[in-house]
Amino acid sequence: MGRLPTRPPWPVDLEGVGPSQQSGPRTAVRPQPLQEWDQETLVLGIETSCDETSASVVKGGREILSNVIASQTDLHRAYGGIVPEIASRAHVEVLTPVIREALLQADATFWDLDGVAATLGPGLIGSLLVGVAEAKSIAAVLDIPFVGVNHLEAHIYSSFLGDPGAAWPAVVLLISGGHTLLIHARGDGDYEVLGGTVDDAAGEAFDKVARFLGLDYPGGPEIDRLSLLGDGDAIAFPRSMIDEPGFDVSYSGLKTSVINYVRRAEARGEEVSVPDVAASFQQAVVDIQVHKTMAAVDHTDGERVFLCGGVAANSGLRRGLEQACERRGLSFYVPSMELCTDNGAMVAACGTALLRRGRYSALDTAPDPNLPLV
Ligand code: KG4
Ligand code: ZN
Repeated sequence: MGRLPTRPPWPVDLEGVGPSQQSGPRTAVRPQPLQEWDQETLVLGIETSCDETSASVVKGGREILSNVIASQTDLHRAYGGIVPEIASRAHVEVLTPVIREALLQADATFWDLDGVAATLGPGLIGSLLVGVAEAKSIAAVLDIPFVGVNHLEAHIYSSFLGDPGAAWPAVVLLISGGHTLLIHARGDGDYEVLGGTVDDAAGEAFDKVARFLGLDYPGGPEIDRLSLLGDGDAIAFPRSMIDEPGFDVSYSGLKTSVINYVRRAEARGEEVSVPDVAASFQQAVVDIQVHKTMAAVDHTDGERVFLCGGVAANSGLRRGLEQACERRGLSFYVPSMELCTDNGAMVAACGTALLRRGRYSALDTAPDPNLPLV
């Protein structure tokens, strides 16, 4: 395995750029990809942007040797949502043991690592700081490269981990608790955002509707589970913006429609079928996203669709998009459930792709809670 220097061995002009003058992440770009990065390269990926503490060792950017995920769901359940202070404290407590476990499961030691990647943003700043500080410390002590990774880009790379046949270019539906984006991904680091939500992210809508219906936290998986017992055509909730040109979506109106429907029915003394409400809400989300994704495929003349992000675990969306792709002869890629949720493997895979292109992050790079994809 090639051992690489921490600092780029080519001239980089960092004159006068101290931590106090820093504005956003700095990466040093090497003109040629490093020959040393090959199929044997081991990268440790650390993810702490939200409520999952995860570390993973990935070989050659594609082969997952370990992917340890410690979920904080139980800590936040009592509050019905993520409490940032609790999240960062929990990351501090479990990150080191999670990394140790990831190395053990990968049958590797710190000294086998060729690089360390950590999520730089977007996410909760306190949580991001924990992972980034630990990753930089490991890189500094081992004298190996550190690279800060965009969480959204990492989700895109989960498509490659899920299926070795995945390739660029692709229309990517990146759908999670914080983001809902349709992206034309042309290659490594070459992304065009075609559209996104103008209000709530899809996962946020799932969670809010679930809370209103009195379901357990987190709400997305609960609605998914209940939908299997209900009729998705029972209630005609609106498909906002579906017929408008462009690739933007809106979920705030759909959420309000669900609330109004339940309140009106209760006011009339009618019994509400919660499974029917859940299934009809989910069907509306699926119809909107499938429609817009296919429009993006037409727009880009695409042949491949990637579905990724936390809401990619939704059974209705997986099925709906797969069937739409099948009808049009498109290749469809969606990772396993474990790789849809936030995880270190996608960070390691994305970090490896960056390092291969010679993109290192300086050791004074700060996390950015609002880091944009492009
Ligand atoms: O990607 P992720 O783990 O965290 C963010 O980056 O946001 O996504 C979490 C979101 C939550 O809103 C959760 O309710 C939703 O993904 N989710 C689901 C399902 N599983 C997780 N939504 C719908 N159906 C599911 N099966
Ligand atoms: Zn995520």
